Parts: sequence; C-alpha cells; structure tokens
Amino acid sequence: MDLLPFIDWVASSPLSKWISQSRWAFAVIESIHLLALSVIGGSVLIVDLRLLGFGIRTHTLEEIARQAQPWFLGSWTVMITTGLLLFWSEPQKLYYSAPFAVKMSCLLLGTIFALTVRRKVTLADEGQVNAIWLKLVALVSLALWFGVGAGGRWVGFSG
Ligand code: HEM
Repeated sequence: MDLLPFIDWVASSPLSKWISQSRWAFAVIESIHLLALSVIGGSVLIVDLRLLGFGIRTHTLEEIARQAQPWFLGSWTVMITTGLLLFWSEPQKLYYSAPFAVKMSCLLLGTIFALTVRRKVTLADEGQVNAIWLKLVALVSLALWFGVGAGGRWVGFSG
C-alpha cells in the first residue's frame, strides 16, 4: 500500500504547518510526550522488576500489576496523542526513517504483549506460574519498551 499520498496530505495540512512553524508547539508537545514517557516507564518497570524478583516485596504481583494498569493505560494514551501530533509536524522525515519504523514496530508488539501474555501472567496466582516464565515475560517486555524509547531517541539523531 502506497502511503505517500497520505503523508503528503498530512504535511500540507494546516495543523502540520502550525506545529512545525511555531516557535514553541513542537517543544511543548515533546515535553508532554517525555513527561508521559516517565510515567509509562515507571508503570512498566515496577511490574517487570517484580517479575524479575526485585523491587516491591510487600505486595503481591497481582496487586502491583492491578495498581500499575491505570497508570500504564493513561500514559499510553498521552504518548499516542502527543506522538501523533509530533508525527503530524514532520511526516515526510518519519516516513523514510528506519528508527521510526523500529519504534512503531516495538510499540505495537509491546502494547499487544502488555495486554495479552504479560497481563495474563501478572494477574495469575503467582505460585502457579513457573519462575522462569515470569522472568522471560519481564525480559521480553523490557526489551520491547527499550526498543520504543531507544527508537524515539534515535529518530532525533538521524536525518
Ligand atoms: C509509549 C510510546 C512511546 C515512547 C516510549 C516514545 C518515546 C520517545 C522518545 C524517547 C523520544 C525522543 C525525545 C528526544 O529526542 O528528546 C520521542 C520523540 C518522538 N516521538 Fe515518541 N514515543 C512513543 C510514542 C510515539 C508515537 C505513537 C508516535 C507517533 C505516532 C511518536 C512520535 C514521536 C516523534 C515524531 C518524536 C520526535 C522525533 C524527533 O526528534 O524528530 N512517539 N518519543
């Protein structure tokens, strides 16, 4: 499927021109993007560290996962909204960006993994899941979210 007509349409939209030409819009949106990044990072880490056997021991894995879930979903929503606005301001650069493709692939996989396998494992009775599985799930999750963050930073260095 040829996405170029869509990319060109985005680039010529008034919103794209406004964000890219404004002296402050990109910076403000990216700041919100990065504030939400710290929240999503915290909500992922607190559960994955627990899966690895570190971090909070005073609560069960299920309790920690349940309490982290709204923070994850809320910050994920802010990341997607602000990310789309950033994308809107420079679609042609991102269309040809390999780091952006890596980032979006990791984001898709990380989100699916968080809402399926990881959610099932963290909400299950802790004693019923093999410790190796718990650690494997944490490592896959950390690798995918690291890919999203590193891909995002890498975009800024390329092109
Ligand atoms: C959980 C999801 C996400 C994470 C962890 C994330 C992470 C990051 C990071 C670390 C940066 C680099 C900031 C810097 O260089 O100072 C960034 C920038 C950016 N992000 Fe995201 N992001 C996410 C979602 C998205 C989405 C969904 C989009 C677009 C649809 C997006 C588009 C962008 C753009 C366009 C930039 C600016 C790139 C540039 O420097 O030109 N992000 N993001």
